Amino acid sequence: MSKTVLLILGGSGDLTKRKLIPALSSIQSKKLLPDELVVIGSGRTDYTHDTYREHVETTKELCDCLYYHVGLDNIKEYINSFGDIGKIVVFFSLPPSVYAKSVQELYKQGLVGNNVSLIIEKPFGRDLESSKELEKDILKFYPKESIFLIDHYLAKEPVQNILIFRFANRIFEPNWNRFHIESIQINCSESIGIEDRAKYFDQSGMIRDMIQSHLLQLLTILTMETPKSSSASDIVAEKIKLLKKLKVKNVIRGQYEGYRDEKGVDPKSNTETFAQVEFRIDSDRWYNVPIYITTGKALKRRGTEIGVVFRDADTPIFENDNLKKNAIVFTVQPQSGIIVDLVNKIPGWGVSLTNTNMSFCYSNQFSNNIPDAYQRLLVDAIKGDKTLFVGIEETGEAWRVIEPALSESELIYYKKGEDPIETLIEDPLDFTKYINIC
Ligand code: BG6
Repeated sequence: MSKTVLLILGGSGDLTKRKLIPALSSIQSKKLLPDELVVIGSGRTDYTHDTYREHVETTKELCDCLYYHVGLDNIKEYINSFGDIGKIVVFFSLPPSVYAKSVQELYKQGLVGNNVSLIIEKPFGRDLESSKELEKDILKFYPKESIFLIDHYLAKEPVQNILIFRFANRIFEPNWNRFHIESIQINCSESIGIEDRAKYFDQSGMIRDMIQSHLLQLLTILTMETPKSSSASDIVAEKIKLLKKLKVKNVIRGQYEGYRDEKGVDPKSNTETFAQVEFRIDSDRWYNVPIYITTGKALKRRGTEIGVVFRDADTPIFENDNLKKNAIVFTVQPQSGIIVDLVNKIPGWGVSLTNTNMSFCYSNQFSNNIPDAYQRLLVDAIKGDKTLFVGIEETGEAWRVIEPALSESELIYYKKGEDPIETLIEDPLDFTKYINIC
């Protein structure tokens, strides 16, 4: 039987040891990796196979198929020394600044052919121009079909489920438009700060780090038209069409007090640790519906939610100024579920109304068999299944959309552990009402 090779570039680095190796050993223990797998770490450090195995501190089972190769010289010959090779999957566990150079080196070493695929982590470029350049540099050597761009949000179960929610149910899709929906509010709060990632983060900020990738993905899946089929290419094609109609309308950028004093941060840094971006979609379905993405670090709590807020009932024969509008809230994490905010009658002699919630919670409906996003992506990439990966043109479109928000507009300041008060949202949803339901 031919072997599958997983070649990890940056094999001696921190990301490999902290994330990749534990994910691999976990999926191996679940028997989700090919039996005939060879994992080769490649890096600059001069390890032997044994010292490498010690360095990554993994299970005996994974060590049995784990090897090390210094640099990329003669890598093809080394791979071929394992016998009959089927697939070669190359994982870029490298700083993005060396992606282009490494692709060229792989090609020079002869690692080409339709059995070779490249798995590349975000960020793919830092603006439209650099992402286009990187795309060109990669496509010079490898076809688009062989590129797997990772966005781990796509592999989160509740995110995958948005597609099912919209297109496998009859109830919601007919109302999924400007006639019924008043606004869409996507929120991703993190309570942690930048930890030890100052070098990367200070050059990025929230718009590049979170909005261009993860949160625009949520937006496109929520608002795109029905894809021709559930295939990866049809979904990507529909997302690209949506991105072409998407425009930034307003931006707030914020920074937490004390950020500039953090180790590794430029003392005059204008990088945002908080951002809120208001969008419009230039389509009949969404004409003039405000869509907001809000995200930040060092905020009051951790949580990712999407709120779809509906307009008032058409013929409101009941009066109650305190009622909230109908909303569908997708809670992505830490608890996952879907909540529908409905108006109901309070039992009693008179007629008084109140908001109540109807909920679907993963924790109640499904046992704890929810695959980890990163592990899922590794399994799929090794299998060659592209469904949960980002298209290379799609990431370019996302940069084009977000570019106007990248200009260094004035910053607002907020205290660590608190949320900024400023908001562009006329009627912001209070997500804290929903997060503990599941
Ligand atoms: C990463 C960003 O892609 O996603 C980080 O670089 C961020 O800054 C992380 O913290 C958030 O992922 P999750 O799965 O913890 O929400």
